[in-house]
Amino acid sequence: MPTLKWPFRLATLVIFAILANILPAGLHAQPGRLLVKVNQPGPKISPTLYGLMTEEISHSYDGGLYAELIRNRAFKDNTEEPVDWTLVEDGGGAGSIALDQRQPLSMSLQTTLRLTITTPGQRVGVANDGYWGIPVRPNTRYRASLYARGDRSFTGPLTVDIESADGSNVLARAEIPKITSSWAPYSVTLTTGDLAPSETNRFVVSTSSPGTLWLDLVSLFPPTYHDRPNGNRIDIMQKLAGLNPSFLRFPGGNYLEGNSLDERFEWRNTIGPLWMRPGHESPWGYRSSDGLGLLEYLEWCEDLHMQPVLAVFDGYVLNGTYIEPGPRLQPWVQDALDEIEYATGAVTTRWGAVRARDGHPAPFHVNYVEIGNEDYSHEYNGRFAQFFDAIKAKYPHIKLIATSRVTSRVPDVVDDHYYRSAAAMEADVHHYDNSDRHGPKIFVGEWATTEGRPTPTFQAALADAAWMTGLENNSDVVILASYAPLFVNVNPGASQWGTNFIGYDALNSFGSTSYYAQQMFSQNRGDVVLPVDLTVPASPAPAPPAPHGAIGVATWETQAEFRNIKVTHNGQTLYQKDFANGDADWHFNRGAWKLQDGALVQTSDEDGPDATAGDRLDRLHLFAASP
Ligand code: AHR
Repeated sequence: MPTLKWPFRLATLVIFAILANILPAGLHAQPGRLLVKVNQPGPKISPTLYGLMTEEISHSYDGGLYAELIRNRAFKDNTEEPVDWTLVEDGGGAGSIALDQRQPLSMSLQTTLRLTITTPGQRVGVANDGYWGIPVRPNTRYRASLYARGDRSFTGPLTVDIESADGSNVLARAEIPKITSSWAPYSVTLTTGDLAPSETNRFVVSTSSPGTLWLDLVSLFPPTYHDRPNGNRIDIMQKLAGLNPSFLRFPGGNYLEGNSLDERFEWRNTIGPLWMRPGHESPWGYRSSDGLGLLEYLEWCEDLHMQPVLAVFDGYVLNGTYIEPGPRLQPWVQDALDEIEYATGAVTTRWGAVRARDGHPAPFHVNYVEIGNEDYSHEYNGRFAQFFDAIKAKYPHIKLIATSRVTSRVPDVVDDHYYRSAAAMEADVHHYDNSDRHGPKIFVGEWATTEGRPTPTFQAALADAAWMTGLENNSDVVILASYAPLFVNVNPGASQWGTNFIGYDALNSFGSTSYYAQQMFSQNRGDVVLPVDLTVPASPAPAPPAPHGAIGVATWETQAEFRNIKVTHNGQTLYQKDFANGDADWHFNRGAWKLQDGALVQTSDEDGPDATAGDRLDRLHLFAASP
């Protein structure tokens, strides 16, 4: 007989109890009655319902999960100057630094850092502040590595330090005794003593010898989860493990598509040794090192026992360009087939052999592949059919996910996305009650109650919980669901999205309210849905609530001015604003907002600045977007 795991239901009941507490006082006198019909098991709950969705956004990997501590390690983040690196000149030392492309490390990493020491003094070197600091913990081993070459007169030695941001306190030190005039890799271990954890630190490579040297791929790793080389941050992986997730949808999201064709997630450029990975511009406004690439995604799945839900690029780019179905699309279909072979092929296959070369001979099991991301374009029908036919022919067991409703083929699964207010989430709990039980299954591949920044409010977590009861109740149809975005680096300027699931800085991480709401569901999964009867004693109708809510205006890569804002309902004016009298009741998020000639003016071209007034719940956004 099917069983009900009671803690999950308890989670549901807790929510009812919280709702009961906000009922009018009279209702407490006569308790309601909740009857759970354990002898009438209903639909099965998908064992894979709760999983994760991830992409590089808000420094999810670089400056987040990916444990690399050096920012701009390959000097490609800016073509003009070595951003995030500074010259160190101590005790009479003098020198200079510059980008140099004359003798590159590899085809992929063509920019190097040149350090010229004119007067050695105590030391001359280069410092990196990491991603908003270099986190340091007591009694910990850090692995520093770099590629270096010297001019004929420079052979070292090089000193490698982790030190306080002002250089006054050395926290760990090691030496590279000698370098040569050809590119070669060097690595050292830096071990901290019994010190207090801190993050206002820097990493320094220095010397007290004169001459010129070149550096590339300068790297510093702390201990990683499962001790993987080039691995992930332990604290964040532990948070994810705490969710007991069933799957990982990757690599996006917009990150899959890119802002232009050459900025898509090009999986071939994300595999192999780090010196073969060029990195790429991401659609979220910063460059990705691709240190966390296709193999690392798959190993992340392996470490947390998650099924990969691999999204393949389908020829549709965020800027609206696309490759039409037909012969021009065929190379992209082949690219997806190769990618699947890299993940799943035996070592005797072409791409399975490459995966083995990269250190993972055992194939991964991929049961789900998604064709594109949020591809709502007209041509998707044709593109989907072309990918569908090719992938099914070679991998008949793989379930194919469509990003929107298609008519050309019957997808196994369709991916729906929701980013909404708490009120909207709660109101739509029954969304899937009447879904076709014979049609494609549903993957709610991105969803979130978007209240609270950088992480959700408690109200948002309650709405999430309500929404998840709807997903569970319909889990015979909704087989996979994942909150998005998963991660946010909470440092100023690090984030591109409002409401996120897990937050961190260089040293610490935390689960949001929504994280803990979802953990209750995910850790305590039921097997079947049981019907319930809820009886609530009649009560006098409560007085209608006073009008409440909020209004917002926002822009997307454009400038705009707003004036004479008026919100009406059934002829009644609920809100009116003439900016001639100021903007005192408005809140601003991102962008450059000012009052000008009685209008509210937004003058920045960045993505998604918004301005809101009211109680900041139930937000209605009027977007002004560039054509
Ligand atoms: O989760 C953030 C973004 O929202 C995703 O990249 C995209 O798929 C969606 O529009």
